[in-house]
Order: sequence, then structure tokens, then C-alpha cells
Amino acid sequence: MADLMEKIVSLAKRRGFVFPGSEIYSGLGGVYDFGPLGVELANNIKSAWWKNIVQERDNVVGLDSAILMNRQVWHTSGHVESFADPLVECKNCHSRFREDTLPKSRNCPTCGKNNWTPPRMFNLMFKTHIGPTEEEADETFLRPETAQGIFVNFGNVIDTMRVKLPFGMAQIGKGFRNEITIGNFLFRVREFEMMELEYFTYPKQAEKDFEYWKKERMDWFVGLGIDKKNLRFREHEDDERAHYAVKSVDIEYNWPFGGWLELEGIANRTDYDLKQHAKESGKDLSYFDEETKEKIVPYVIEPSLGIGRAMLAFLIDAYEESDAPTAGSPSAKASGDKRGETEKRVVLKLDPRLAPVKVAVLPLVKDAKLIKIAKDIYKDLKKEWNVMYDEVGTVGRRYRRQDEIGTPYAITVDFDTLKDNSVTVRDRDSMEQERVKVSEIPNLLNGKLL
Ligand code: GAP
Repeated sequence: MADLMEKIVSLAKRRGFVFPGSEIYSGLGGVYDFGPLGVELANNIKSAWWKNIVQERDNVVGLDSAILMNRQVWHTSGHVESFADPLVECKNCHSRFREDTLPKSRNCPTCGKNNWTPPRMFNLMFKTHIGPTEEEADETFLRPETAQGIFVNFGNVIDTMRVKLPFGMAQIGKGFRNEITIGNFLFRVREFEMMELEYFTYPKQAEKDFEYWKKERMDWFVGLGIDKKNLRFREHEDDERAHYAVKSVDIEYNWPFGGWLELEGIANRTDYDLKQHAKESGKDLSYFDEETKEKIVPYVIEPSLGIGRAMLAFLIDAYEESDAPTAGSPSAKASGDKRGETEKRVVLKLDPRLAPVKVAVLPLVKDAKLIKIAKDIYKDLKKEWNVMYDEVGTVGRRYRRQDEIGTPYAITVDFDTLKDNSVTVRDRDSMEQERVKVSEIPNLLNGKLL
């Protein structure tokens, strides 16, 4: 299983999904950059989430609040006091770890000794300063969650959007956490994008809505191709919950490194945040219920997911190795692929909505006439989808390259195209090929890619 993780990390680097941050300066712990294919995959994950959470619902609106916020926000929210993890230091080698990530033996993962300092709470927020002085009054924090931007805009949205309870506010944006223990690639990093929904509801309806969102969020992962058997719910114990939550359930994924661990968190934050902000800001952050003519402070149900963590789960779940016929097609043989009968095929079986490249266009061989037709098809399809053109190497090799990055369809222009204006469309998963007229390609892909 750890082997699978090595393969994913290597594929992600080799094929331009994920690069270590600041790599030419030996990197920066817990920071990664998304390469050309990674940014496409991340954008597709975000689009799928936004479509499902905002666009397809009539009671959820979007928001994009600033990363930098008045420092008072973080005092009021409780993050300055409580957003901390227990840090222990090995007295022998001075390595530092989050206490709850130590192995069962409690032996130091660096030197093997078991001789720790008592735990002390370490705040995970990055401090920064606004303006040219570094005085305490100018200090603020990089946000560790986007949710506070939603709470402080609750009044603005109520005033401007005529929303009715229950309703949600959703946003996607960067969060920063000075994690003590990083690792497992994108699983725990220090800078990451999050997708958060704050769903405001009647207090008496909160438990029902909590169950509703649990199911919605689980269905979203399964609908985008994650195998159900790799997902489960786990409710937090009393001593695990964040300071603002009365109930928290994780959607856990069965990761190849640590087994069942959090993929997404769903929390019942009650009226904690709105009440705190109303108290400290002196602003009214209640909702006037037209039916009962009463002011209420809504409860909040919050599903929250990191994009990098989601990306890692989608990559792991989509990764498949199999033996496949070398080059896979008669046309490949025609292109001069003379290797053995079968070879290892690595394929990312990503849902077409998530795949970074939707279609590859390939001339069978480097022939000027075939290249011209292939480039025309490529240019045409590019107006609609992210399409890749590739003429380097045997067609079999090119299919494999596209399989490895999860491209669902490959279009090959061959010598028959010159006679009957048709091409082959190859399906990534079945490797089956169908012959279609060039004029029919957009229709065919429209049906397959939507
Ligand atoms: N506003 C709620 C909140 O921040 P959380 O459980 O701390 O809740 C939400 O974080 C999600 O963000 C997690 O389920 C995970 O997907 C992602 N996440 C949290 N910390 C992360 C980290 N250090 N690196 C990558 N993803 C992280």
C-alpha cells in the first residue's frame, strides 16, 4: 500500500500534477505547487463542488471573502485561544511532533528513543503584520479556515440577497496552518485551498440538516467515482471536536499510508460563531423570521473539504495497473510498434468531469496530411474542452501517456481518414475504439463528456 503512495507521488511529479514548493531551493516543508495538469484537476474538483453546492440549489449563495481579516475576528472566533495542537519535543534528538500523531509505542520517529517533554499547546495560525510596523496592534493572522469570512458577512448577505432560512453561504479559498507534523504528500500541508459551506438553519432543524448534509457529501464523492468501500463516516469523540462544534462527523477515506483518516469534516457549529461576533462587534447578526415574527440566531451545519486532500483521494482511487495488449490497436501496429504482446498499463480512471485533459488528438504517424487533419480537429475541439495534441512516438506509447494522466478519449487520425473522413475514438477504460465521421466528433463528445 505504501508502494501505491510512492507511485502516486512519482506520477504526480513526472506528469506535471504536483511539484514540491520552492523546489530549486530544496523545497519548503508542507508546501506544494500544482503543475499544469494539477491546476486543471483542482479547477475541475472546485467546479464540480460549486455546481453541486451553489449552482444546482436555490438556497445556497457564493462568497469570496479576503484572506486577511481584522485581528479581532480571530480573537472573537476563539482561534487565538483554542486553535492549537499538543506539541512534544524529543529530549534526545529535539525533533518536534504533534503528540496525537506519535506511534503507539511512543518511540521517536526520528531517533527511536522514548523521552518526551510534557506537551504544550502550539497555535497553528501564521502571524503577520499589516502596514510598515511590527507592533502588536498591527498584528493579524493568515486565515486557518474560510468560514469566518462567511460569518462576518452574514448580515451583508441577509440584507442584499433576500435569503430565507434555511440557506447556505459557500466559498472556496486558501487556508494556512502552521502544522507541526506534515507529511503524506498533499494530506497534511501548511497552505491549502478549502471548499466550505456554512448552512444556516433553525436550531430545531439542525440535527436533521446535519444528517442531510452527511448524505449529500458522501454521495458527491461516490458520484464522482470514489469507491464506496473506501469511504465511511466516523463521529468525533468529545475530546476531539474543535472548540466551536457540538457534533462532528468525518467522512474518512482508507488512505494507503495511515488507513482510515479524515477526508472531509462535517460539523454542527450551533450559533456559536454568530453569537460571538454579534457580542464582540456590537452588530445584530440575527435573522428575522417573517412567520413567527421572531429574531433568531441560526445554527450552522458546516461541510468543509481541502482541495489537495480531495485531489489525493481522487488520484489514489483512480489509479489502476493492469496488463494490456502492447499498443492496443491494429493501427498501432501499423505505426511500427513491434514490442511484446502485453505490457503494464497505468491508467487513472478519473471521472471525465475531473480529468485534466478531456481528449487527445493523435495523428497515427508523422505524415503531413494526417498532421494537418489532426491539428484542425484539435483546434476545433479546443474551443470547448481542454484538449491535447501529441505526435511524438508510436501511437501505442501515446495512448499509454494519455491513460496515465486520465484522458478519457483519444482521437486518432489514420490513412482511412483521408478516404472516408472518419477517425477512431478510443475509450480509456475499455480501450475499445469506434469509428466516427469527423463532423460527428463534437456531438459524440458532448454526449460522453457532460
Ligand atoms: N472550517 C472547518 C475546518 O476548518 P477542519 O476539519 O479543520 O475544519 C476541513 O478542516 C478540511 O480541510 C479537512 O477535512 C481536510 O479536508 C482539510 N484540511 C485541514 N487541514 C489540512 C491540512 N493541514 N492539509 C490539507 N488539508 C487540510
